[in-house]
Amino acid sequence: MHRVLSTVVLSCFATITIAASEPPSVADARQKAKMLGDALKERLQNAIQQGGFPAGVSECHLAAMPVTERFNRAGWTVGRTALKLRNPANTPDTWEKQQLNEFAKRLKSDSEHIPEASYYDAQKGEFRYMRAIVTRPVCTGCHGASVGQDVKAVIDTHYPNDEATGFAPGSLRGAFTLSWEAVPDSQKY
Ligand code: HEC
Repeated sequence: MHRVLSTVVLSCFATITIAASEPPSVADARQKAKMLGDALKERLQNAIQQGGFPAGVSECHLAAMPVTERFNRAGWTVGRTALKLRNPANTPDTWEKQQLNEFAKRLKSDSEHIPEASYYDAQKGEFRYMRAIVTRPVCTGCHGASVGQDVKAVIDTHYPNDEATGFAPGSLRGAFTLSWEAVPDSQKY
């Protein structure tokens, strides 16, 4: 679906087609991660304002994936991952798991700097980027050590295998994870 959309867009704008074949920079990926974070935060804040943390859980359940998938265009795949998951669809692969373990270690010794990792594999035409997501005090309402009974009830309804509680502010909650692949020639025009 998204692939079709990006192909149509690309065929209308030849200059973008050329740009999409160049590997992106870390700054591009950082900006995309920030845009995703802002989009999710806005939905979450609105829902919490209207119906408290239980409504926030339902909103995340409904909106997190569709909001995230909107960023999947022009070769990009964007998402969130973590070592302890709420949504199993966010399960990390081997590279992601290594970075998450490394991020957790780095944050323990230095909570001022947000850890990042990236690489570009020229042979595969693949670029990957991850940026740590740090637990903030507001997050503990749904991810902390003592989540309210009413919140827990909604979490259990949507996520019966939830592992994503017990997080303290300042610790690693997860990461944004982005990958980019050169758009094959056959899909350019
Ligand atoms: C109102 C409850 C609520 C609050 C507050 C909340 N989250 Fe979540 N969080 C959720 C739900 C529900 C999901 C699962 C979303 C989905 O289905 O993809 C989730 C998923 C995540 C994920 C994806 C990994 C996973 O476990 O599936 C990350 C990372 C995350 N939250 C980080 C945070 C951070 C950081 C904060 C604070 C800034 C925060 N959350 C605040 C409810 C919440």
